[in-house]
Parts: sequence; structure tokens; C-alpha cells
Amino acid sequence: MAPSDNRRVISVSDANALAKAAADRILARIAANRGRVAVCLTGGSSPRQLYQLLATEAYRSRIPWDRVHWFIGDERFVPADDPLNNMGTARRMFLDSYAPASNIHPIPTDTANPEQAARRYENELQSFYGADRLDATRPLFDVVLMGVGPDGHTASLFPNYPALEETERWVVGVPEAHVEPFVPRVTLTLPALGSCREMLFEASGSDKRAILTRVLDGEDLPANRAHSTGETIWLLDKAALPENFRAQ
Ligand code: 6PG
Repeated sequence: MAPSDNRRVISVSDANALAKAAADRILARIAANRGRVAVCLTGGSSPRQLYQLLATEAYRSRIPWDRVHWFIGDERFVPADDPLNNMGTARRMFLDSYAPASNIHPIPTDTANPEQAARRYENELQSFYGADRLDATRPLFDVVLMGVGPDGHTASLFPNYPALEETERWVVGVPEAHVEPFVPRVTLTLPALGSCREMLFEASGSDKRAILTRVLDGEDLPANRAHSTGETIWLLDKAALPENFRAQ
């Protein structure tokens, strides 16, 4: 599949600038919605600096915490307090200090298996949304954060996995991961992740340059299939930026 034509690549100098640019974009999306806001966070190491920044006075004081709801795009099937748990990381880094508990929506990992967790989270998302079908004119999320892995996966949508082809379900269980940590996952599907005003990919550092070259060349990779019904932004720092984008 060709990359979406609503994709925009934005490059910034370094990882600090990247976190600031991402935080500013999230704040702008929050400010643009006077009602209930839904933010879908991501796991991995890429958003850590951003989460740190959102906890600082300059940012946290501008977040209307009572009307912002926080979700997670994929989860490792480990206990909530395991250091590998994606929502656990976001909670420790900023959410638990500022967000009302009822506005934090973790993917459960205390179910018998990832598939049951997926069903429960799908129900939670559908009751939040108020419907069990996504309406293209009414996005589920205001902003969805994403990362990209070395094999081009995003969320827990790995290359050639059936989850990638899902068109009906909003959340599915993923029995095995392609990359570390090798634990089962639960992931939102492309239609659910894409139902947003903005999808914001973040990648920094030279380790990301090889996969970003493939992504930006338009290779058929999960990260290229993921796009928003609104805007899709790839926020990259200079070290991650592929050669042919450096000259532009
Ligand atoms: C996860 C993720 C995953 C991540 C990428 C990038 O649970 O690991 O949600 O999709 O975003 O693997 O990870 P890094 O940010 O650690 O490079």
C-alpha cells in the first residue's frame, strides 16, 4: 500500500527538540477541542522524553486534566506494575500525578489471555465512543502517538501478521512479538488507530535511520499502512532523518 498522501515529515535538531515539538502538537490538539479529549499514547523508549516534559509545570499547567482521557495503542501482556508495561510507564512518568484515575484507560493484562484483554479494551473504547462502528466524520481520538520498530512495526502490528489485515475489530491479541520484549501483546488495529485527528509518529537517533529510509521510500510496512483519517505527522530528529531527506 502506498503511504498516505496526508503524511507530513517534520524534522527537528535533536531529541530534546523532538519532545518539545511533540508536546506542543499534543497541547494544540487539546486546545482545539473544547469538549472531551482522547489521547492515545504509545510504548517503547521513544516517548519517554515527551512524557517527562508533559510532567513539567510549563506543560502540565496547560492541560485541562479533568476533560482529557488517556488511552494506549498497544500493550505488552505483563502485569500493570511490570517495568515493561507501556501504560505503567506513562502512569509513573506523568499520568498518576496529574490525571484523574477515571480518565486513565489502560489495556487490562490481568485477563486469562491477550485475546480476552483485547475484547475488554474494545468494549471500553466503544462505550467511550458511544458506538461500535467508527464514523469517519467523528474520530475516536484527537491524537494518537506512534513509534516505529526496526522491522517497520508500529504499535504491536508486526509485518505479515494477521492483525495487520483486520478491518472490523478495534483491538486484537497478538500471541507473539517479532522483537524484544518477546511477550504476547494486545494492540489496537489500523482502523481504530487511524480514527484520529492527528497521528503523530516520533523517532530519533541514528539507529532509526535504516528503517525510516525504508518507510519513507514507501515500502509496504505496518508503519506505512498506519495513517490518520486526519493528519499524519512523522516527527524526526536530524540523526534519524534518511539521507535523501537531509538535502530538502
Ligand atoms: C511497544 C511499542 C512499539 C514501539 C516501537 C518503537 O510496545 O514496544 O508500542 O510499537 O513504539 O517498537 O520502540 P522504541 O521507541 O523503543 O524504539
